[in-house]
Amino acid sequence: MPDPNKLTVPDHPILDCLSQRYSPYAYEPKPIEPDKLRALLEAARWSASSFNEQPWRFVLATRDDETAWQAALGCLVEANQQWAQHAGALILTLAKTNFTYNDAPNRVAIHDVGLAAGNLSAQATALGLHVHQMAGIDGDAVRSTYDVPEGFEPVTAIAIGYAADAEPDDKPRTRKPLSEWVFGGTFGQTHPLV
Ligand SMILES: Cc1cc2nc3c(=O)[nH]c(=O)nc-3n(C[C@H](O)[C@H](O)[C@H](O)COP(=O)(O)O)c2cc1C
Repeated sequence: MPDPNKLTVPDHPILDCLSQRYSPYAYEPKPIEPDKLRALLEAARWSASSFNEQPWRFVLATRDDETAWQAALGCLVEANQQWAQHAGALILTLAKTNFTYNDAPNRVAIHDVGLAAGNLSAQATALGLHVHQMAGIDGDAVRSTYDVPEGFEPVTAIAIGYAADAEPDDKPRTRKPLSEWVFGGTFGQTHPLV
């Protein structure tokens, strides 16, 4: 059961799979059904991307595969290993840094990896799962563990699992109001819509 304290009431109505999402530190010790994992990956697959480059690459490890699990955990910083070891699956994300069609740098490669992660996250919430993304990874460990070729950059890790109801982090979830970051006219001037 997700922790009810982590759910929010948005200021404006949004999809349940967005309002029910949060990043758990506590997980039920339950494996994730392979069909659900495939659905999450399929959601990422259908993300939009600049020039349809699809610059995302994922390394997936599930906790039932001990060798793969330890390899993936070893790519996280210690603080993230502490809680992520209880998740059901881990994904390490990487970005292809240059476009395939002309080999020029793809300025939005990491953006598009994030978009794929966002779609995966919404699909996960819709299926009763939660994800917790991490910048806290050891990029060199990712490169050496998985023999990553030139032209690909480690970006994040994503823990996936069934959220437990007892979250150790009881801080309320907060967000800036729309008026702080939706501008019109000049930068910093709140758009009248919000
Ligand atoms: C790209 C990215 C990197 C993050 N890195 C970490 C991390 O290394 N460790 C961690 O505990 N949480 C990490 N988080 C989780 C954020 O702290 C969390 O999303 C934020 O506090 C908002 O909380 P919420 O996701 O529950 O709404 C990361 C989130 C994102 C999107």
